[in-house]
Amino acid sequence: MGSKKSIALITGASSGIGLEFAKPLDSDPRIDEIWLCARRENRLQNLAQSLNKSTKIIAGDVTDSQWQDRLQQELEQNNVQIHTLINSAGMGKKGTVEEIGRDNNAYMIDLNCRALTVVCSICIPYMSTGGRILNLASVAAFLPQPKFAVYAATKSYVLSYSRALHKELKSKQITVTAVCPNPMETEFFQHTGKPQEISSIKRIGLEQVEKVAAQALRRSERKKDISLLSISAKFVRIVSRILPHPFILWIEEKIGLI
Ligand SMILES: NC(=O)c1ccc[n+]([C@@H]2O[C@H](COP(=O)([O-])OP(=O)(O)OC[C@H]3O[C@@H](n4cnc5c(N)ncnc54)[C@H](OP(=O)(O)O)[C@@H]3O)[C@@H](O)[C@H]2O)c1
Repeated sequence: MGSKKSIALITGASSGIGLEFAKPLDSDPRIDEIWLCARRENRLQNLAQSLNKSTKIIAGDVTDSQWQDRLQQELEQNNVQIHTLINSAGMGKKGTVEEIGRDNNAYMIDLNCRALTVVCSICIPYMSTGGRILNLASVAAFLPQPKFAVYAATKSYVLSYSRALHKELKSKQITVTAVCPNPMETEFFQHTGKPQEISSIKRIGLEQVEKVAAQALRRSERKKDISLLSISAKFVRIVSRILPHPFILWIEEKIGLI
């Protein structure tokens, strides 16, 4: 058997920050091939055509166990080693838990937590020294968020899981970084159920997708388990560690944030 092909695998590559990550990975000399995953195959084909490196498209729903089995088979059948895994597939519905309802609440957990965990479990055996995992959490991970409760809780899971996994994989010199962006202008807001909210968030300030991706890759290179970009995100993190959460929620309510 010849030397293994070094690959990057991106879930959520058809849009937003997942798509953005493909660009710097395309110019990373440590990577031979990029595997692109999402449901919209035509989008992945367009992205593949724009990249210089060879690509493999594994289209499908990451929450579907048949897609997960297929990913496992592709890794088994191809002589590859994963250098970079980016877990970006995710979504969030806004509203009260009651408004969002049983199916959408469960789906957010299936996609943001369960599928991400399964993809990591499938991929880790194909990673070795120098490998890196970047999991998309959010600044929402730091605090409970009424009217975004399940989404924020899923991102707290991603943060906690990623930091623990980082420790577990340290002896293998594999880095796991939880990426915690503020809101970014992507298709994310088309799926929240409240797309109009983007205009009020724009006034507070959005993070730029390419800057979030570049910072996340820098933090991963420095073997850090968390990546934050803006001062405001760092401020939220510090406040959430100092002040009691019920008090922060009380202030948020008083100033009309929730
Ligand atoms: N935008 C923000 O404000 C923001 C802030 C903090 C964190 N994040 C996190 O960043 C990540 C990426 O979000 P984004 O802003 O880039 O949003 P986006 O533009 O909507 O991208 C989401 C990606 O996930 C894929 N996806 C969704 N459901 C999937 C499924 N069941 N199976 C496979 N792929 C699926 C989508 O592709 P298909 O539809 O083609 O399947 C798309 O490529 C998410 O985890 C999100 O929670 C976003």
